[in-house]
Amino acid sequence: MPTLKPPGLKVIAIDGPAGSGKSTVARAVAAKLGMPYLDTGAMYRAVAFSAIRRGIDPEDAATVAKLAREMELEVADRVMVDDVDATIEIRSPEVTRAVSVVAVNPEVRKELVRRQREWAEREGSGVIEGRDIGTVVFPEAPVKVYMTASDEERAQRRSQELLDMHYDEVAADIARRDHIDSTREHAPLAVAPDAVVVDTTASTVEEVVELVLTLAAKAGLG
Ligand code: DC
Repeated sequence: MPTLKPPGLKVIAIDGPAGSGKSTVARAVAAKLGMPYLDTGAMYRAVAFSAIRRGIDPEDAATVAKLAREMELEVADRVMVDDVDATIEIRSPEVTRAVSVVAVNPEVRKELVRRQREWAEREGSGVIEGRDIGTVVFPEAPVKVYMTASDEERAQRRSQELLDMHYDEVAADIARRDHIDSTREHAPLAVAPDAVVVDTTASTVEEVVELVLTLAAKAGLG
């Protein structure tokens, strides 16, 4: 059981690796509680998208960091990057390949964390999903969930979403990103000490949503 924290910051932090079911659950919880939802992975993807579009090498840390600071970015139902609708393209294999490199960049992380905190302050509450939300961005979040699932199940789920990629390709890509995300120096994917770990391998979406709603109610949210 997590310790109860005073409800000042109304953030439900949902972290976990690709394919753990984070997005589906986070969206459903946000809808049930009438809270805004923020997909921070989409923000890292938007930076990668913008770099590719401008012909900037994702490995060029200084230029990509400058881009992250200067770009206009709106992540809501649609993802808008400098007035371009990038909702679909940020999920492309090309962006997916480049995004881990972008997410390793400490200056990019600093800028996106700043934007994420600003978003929460502006909105007043939110269900926020990512890799470092409970550990780095909002260590004071009253509800922290770390979702996971077996490697096979996660690859299976992703390959159903990405119809143009084969299971083996998806599994290899997920394994590569898991490795980069969890071994990077800055804000690696990790379980916050006070997070509730939920293995979704054999659970339905509804069961996990119910669990998160129960945690939220206990914390005085919703
Ligand atoms: O959740 P996703 O697959 O859309 O995330 C895309 C990439 O962004 C992923 O490889 C890890 C990174 N990411 C991160 O480093 N920190 C976050 N808070 C969210 C995503």
